[in-house]
Amino acid sequence: MADHDFPPLKNDLFLRAARGEETERAPVWVMRQAGRYLPEFRKVREQHEFFKVCQTPELAKEVTLQPIRRYSGLVDAAIIFSDILVVPQALGMEVLMNPAPAFPDPLTTPDDIKKLKANVDVKKELGYVFDAITLTRKALNGEVPLIGFTGAPWTLFMYMVEGGGSKTMQKSKGWLFKWPKESKEVLDRITDVCIDYLVEQVRAGAQALQIFDSNAGDLAPHHFHEFSYPYLARIATTLRTRLTSLSLPQVPLILFAKGANHALAHLAITAGYDVLGIDWLVEPSLARSLVNGKVALQGNLEPNVLYGGREAIEREVKRMCDEFRVDGKTKGWIANLGHGITPGVDPEDLRFFFECVQKYSANPTKT
Ligand code: CP3
Repeated sequence: MADHDFPPLKNDLFLRAARGEETERAPVWVMRQAGRYLPEFRKVREQHEFFKVCQTPELAKEVTLQPIRRYSGLVDAAIIFSDILVVPQALGMEVLMNPAPAFPDPLTTPDDIKKLKANVDVKKELGYVFDAITLTRKALNGEVPLIGFTGAPWTLFMYMVEGGGSKTMQKSKGWLFKWPKESKEVLDRITDVCIDYLVEQVRAGAQALQIFDSNAGDLAPHHFHEFSYPYLARIATTLRTRLTSLSLPQVPLILFAKGANHALAHLAITAGYDVLGIDWLVEPSLARSLVNGKVALQGNLEPNVLYGGREAIEREVKRMCDEFRVDGKTKGWIANLGHGITPGVDPEDLRFFFECVQKYSANPTKT
């Protein structure tokens, strides 16, 4: 698919900010914007199992569009409905969602590596995602751009070894320290699939890509540089080469290495991404100075502010907008939460968040 196969884009604020440009106001979207805080999403989930929604392009399209319809004119990007755990599934692992992710047969020892599929054909294993992307981009009718995504190798490795989420990460970190060579083999195998997966998402119509390294901040800085960073950098570099050689568009790449704020300056210079997503544990002004204009930034409202009532939301959004300004201008910033929206948020409070971003990020020098 090429750009001319789709309806023309009417709102390119998100793409312009991702390229570091000055914008009339900050574009805004939120991670997990199609999720359980929306009654219309819960209704779909009452009838269909989680991965069934991911695997049925019509349903994935429907839930992707839910926040776009509800917040029409207030939200500036859509993210395709899927999950990061479809990559381990493509590698041959069983993943359940009941209601948290569970792998009945995780990677226990290096001997289990042979259980992973050797040559993953992403078109065969994940073709439903590409179909969902094409269908959704058409249905969006150019209202906002569509973001595709993948989990990052370290975060996916963590799930594949732990067999689900983990606070201590004893098993996955145990692997890194006990079997570094074998861990890197698995990380490399995941990286290969991520690259193929992202190329095909662009071919299907994704207009930007986000890599979720949600567990990046759980690694010590030197372990992040050994077990996460090289794979993130390889994804960006190889993806760009592949897109060029296939005459596919060079879409903006967003890296959300949650909690790896120690690495911001290094990531900005060397990792090959256009945008770095940040959580709420770093002040925007510090993040700005660390990345020094090399990349755009995305984030970073503490998600629990959405439980604080209108006054707190307004105050905190205003503070965030002021902090993200560069020389008094709104430039190279995509407003978002510092992590995904949680199920208990009142959808009307999220609407108020969007309205506050529009109001307080308005650029005095470019209206
Ligand atoms: O952002 C979006 O709206 C697009 C869809 C999306 C989902 N998951 C849908 C989902 C995206 C981008 C993800 C990414 C994802 N999935 C991450 C990275 C982002 C992050 O939050 O750190 C991770 C770690 C996962 C793995 C995962 N999926 C977990 C840990 C859970 C259960 C806990 C939880 O937060 O709900 C899921 C389930 C999941 N993925 C839900 C949704 C809407 C809720 C499950 C349901 O509908 O019952």
